[in-house]
Amino acid sequence: MLLNTGSTGPNHKEYVTWSDSYSMGVKIIDDQHKGLLDFVNDLFNHSTGNEVEEYAYFKEVIQQAVQYVKDHFQTEEKLMIATKFANYPGHKKAHDTFTLTVLKSVKDFESGKRLVLEKFAYFLKDWILTHIAVMDRQYAEYFRKIATRKADGKLTITIEDLEKQSSP
Ligand SMILES: [Fe+2]
Repeated sequence: MLLNTGSTGPNHKEYVTWSDSYSMGVKIIDDQHKGLLDFVNDLFNHSTGNEVEEYAYFKEVIQQAVQYVKDHFQTEEKLMIATKFANYPGHKKAHDTFTLTVLKSVKDFESGKRLVLEKFAYFLKDWILTHIAVMDRQYAEYFRKIATRKADGKLTITIEDLEKQSSP
């Protein structure tokens, strides 16, 4: 995937590209993180500064995007619970706070407040990248430890693996 990272001018856009350094070593999580970054890039693509266009775009995509984020957080939380990750409460709190912030933006938007798409895109980008680099990395390291204890030496953990492990 080639994305332009060096554009300048009135619609300067800081697209984000996937890097292997973001990988958690868990395919389903990596795929979802890629999906989130795709959404951020899509927001940048639609940041035209034209209020009518931005409104129409945001109205069309935001509910699905919110659901995607919720599903993603649930996937991570399910993995953390199943593996008894110690900082699950702190991580869950970070997810909940972020979700509330996004929902507040959506509510403001629905009540007629102007939402500047580019500003929203920057907020999402910064939050997601920081969250992946700091909090997600903590459980990724923990998962890696657990995975290496498995008999076949596999370094990935899937939901199916965990369900097999935790079933009586
Ligand atoms: Fe997370």
